Amino acid sequence: MGGSVIACGGLSYYGLRAPSSVDFPEEKCGTGGKKILVCYESKAGATGEVAARIAEELCSNDYTVDLVRAGNIISLEGYAAAVLGTPVYMGKIMKGINKVAGRFESSFKSISTAIFVLGLTMKEDTAENREAMMDYVKPLSDILSPEAVGLFGGRIAHETLPPLYRAFSKSDAEGILAEGDFRDWGSIDRWAADLSKAWA
Ligand SMILES: Cc1cc2nc3c(=O)[nH]c(=O)nc-3n(C[C@H](O)[C@H](O)[C@H](O)COP(=O)(O)O)c2cc1C
Repeated sequence: MGGSVIACGGLSYYGLRAPSSVDFPEEKCGTGGKKILVCYESKAGATGEVAARIAEELCSNDYTVDLVRAGNIISLEGYAAAVLGTPVYMGKIMKGINKVAGRFESSFKSISTAIFVLGLTMKEDTAENREAMMDYVKPLSDILSPEAVGLFGGRIAHETLPPLYRAFSKSDAEGILAEGDFRDWGSIDRWAADLSKAWA
């Protein structure tokens, strides 16, 4: 009994882990006056790439930016603002991003914040889909009261998915989980540029 519980736990752990080739970027950029934290959760890398793009845009507008995975945040000291990003899986944002928001709640509340969310729901940018995305992000936006919420399409690429999710996607090849990259880089850049202006 104990052995099979451990075996099942191990299988689901490995079934939910992204392949080691998937990159989760963490970097510093810029030399500007105000310091901004861009922090994100991601299972298969797409949100990390969007977070890196937002960090790049902020740096090109004269901010100093730290790009960090949510689980690696130690303190919010010195930041004038923070951007938090997460994908949606099975109708929920990732636990780690809520955890960091809860852990540093009082610090986040004393600085400017913005949230961005990736999901296949945003394959089509309709009022109904935006409303659904805003519902998914509500647990986080209730904590942070962000100044902006960016809603972006996500990506499904088999080579980046944990084995279990890859199996779901392969069995739904004609459906919502079919492979495709629905991130609109123009709209991501515009959102980050608007933030830059708002926080200047
Ligand atoms: C198994 C699975 C479930 C998903 N569930 C949802 C969902 O409920 N709503 C949604 O909008 N997107 C959903 N998505 C899409 C992800 O949000 C999208 O692929 C996102 O880009 C993943 O980001 P990541 O690569 O940073 O982990 C799902 C994707 C997978 C593979």
